[in-house]
Amino acid sequence: MRIALASGDGIGPEIMDATLDLLRAAGGLHGVDLVPVEMGKSVFDRGETRGMTDAAIATVEACGLLLKGPMETPKGGGGKSINVTARKIWNAFANLRHFRTLPGVMTPYSRSGISVDFFIVRENIEDTYGGIEHRLSNDVVQCKRLISAPGSDAVHRFAFETARRLGIKKVHCGHKANIMKMTDGLFLERFKAVAADYPEIETADVIVDALCMNLVMKPQQYRMIVLPNLQGDIVSDLAAGLVGGLGFAPSANIGNHISIFEAVHGTAPDIAGQGIANPCSLILSTIMLMRHIGNMGTAARLENALLASLEQGVRTGDFGDAAKPALGTMEFVKQVAQRLGQKPTLGPAVPDAEDHLTFKPPVKPFAAAAVQTFGTRETRVVGADVYLDASEGVATLAPALESLATGTPWKLTLIRGTQVWPTGSVYTDCVDYWRARFERRADAGEVGQAQALALLQSIASKYTICSYELLRTFDGKPGFSMAQGQ
Ligand code: NAI
Repeated sequence: MRIALASGDGIGPEIMDATLDLLRAAGGLHGVDLVPVEMGKSVFDRGETRGMTDAAIATVEACGLLLKGPMETPKGGGGKSINVTARKIWNAFANLRHFRTLPGVMTPYSRSGISVDFFIVRENIEDTYGGIEHRLSNDVVQCKRLISAPGSDAVHRFAFETARRLGIKKVHCGHKANIMKMTDGLFLERFKAVAADYPEIETADVIVDALCMNLVMKPQQYRMIVLPNLQGDIVSDLAAGLVGGLGFAPSANIGNHISIFEAVHGTAPDIAGQGIANPCSLILSTIMLMRHIGNMGTAARLENALLASLEQGVRTGDFGDAAKPALGTMEFVKQVAQRLGQKPTLGPAVPDAEDHLTFKPPVKPFAAAAVQTFGTRETRVVGADVYLDASEGVATLAPALESLATGTPWKLTLIRGTQVWPTGSVYTDCVDYWRARFERRADAGEVGQAQALALLQSIASKYTICSYELLRTFDGKPGFSMAQGQ
């Protein structure tokens, strides 16, 4: 068995070296080859915009497994996040993260005797993380948020399968479907649909803002929460805060062919190179990797030794009892390695097990699979939302657009999302970006894309069009959101 290995940037190499020392000491590398691959900042710096070499891609695809350290992503401009790219190109669609109270890691909850132990399953490749962004006018930029039915189905099914395997009895879906009725609405609708295949598991849904408060007030009420990508990202860091910080948050990015194991935290540039980073998150991620490949014995030995060390006060400077010495990364791992074979005494130990390498490297598909949830539906074009870059006010814009639509099958029905025309409030500020909704006139007969494009042509003679969306019905139901007040 081969595992591709990328140490990462910042604290990455420090925590990776330490983790591998421990893994070797635990005997987890018998029959396993680690294959170093080039990924991260050094590759970006050479002008390779994917942040990874062709050889790295080929190795990861052949292995089907990647153990990676955190990698730096420029903020604002610069190359796309390599972490997001890796998850997307290899379709690692579900991000499983475990947050639990650990002995010796003092938090307001552990001090109050509250034990936290839950999983977040974050959808990993859709949502705003497509990074499809455009500047639409002088003052306005947009990010497109795409949620698909097959993508939602896949992550929900993974969550329920994992819950079933771990004996988790209740799964929550976090969302914002009260506001984003179509995108989060679809994510929630598919959660309910997939849940029907797991009748023994109780389900509930929770709006993400309420979820954040509930997690702070009563985290013990959750066992597994499945969330869309961005919300899952944010709630994960909140969850890490409940159990002692990012240093204790492991993750597995699971795909049908390729899976990536990494800490939730980033490169921690503020402490990089000092040898003081907490390696627990990467160690816990490596334990997830060991279980994934069938090395249950190694996983149990590592987890028990780590728990025993933590409860005996072994710590790095970012956590634990300040009366006990803060160890550097390497010394911390040495102390854990010395406790291999020990069991925790304050909480349950992981039962002993044996290693059986069961993971099979993936067979490379011939082509990308086309996935579909819904059968073909009858669709009709009933209108178009046309987005304009225009600095004039609505009093000028509305009659001009009405006049451009004269003699076409379309009539202007509203301007903007929070309507400013034909009705609206003077308190609604307007910027230089407008949505004009045109709908089919009652007497227009059947219309289609061609008529919509003709309308665009006519509008383009006078205005700058930033983008447009066709308004379509699917089996008679509108496939678009209504504006406020519509
Ligand atoms: P960060 O997670 O690197 O750091 C946030 C804070 O947590 C810092 O104060 C840091 O010192 C502390 N911290 C993080 N890990 C720690 C550890 N193991 N031990 C002790 N303290 C630790 O987040 P930040 O600063 O927002 O991001 C830095 C860089 O990391 C950025 O380029 C970002 O894009 C990248 N990043 C990469 C990720 C990945 O590779 N999966 C995930 C998150 C961020």
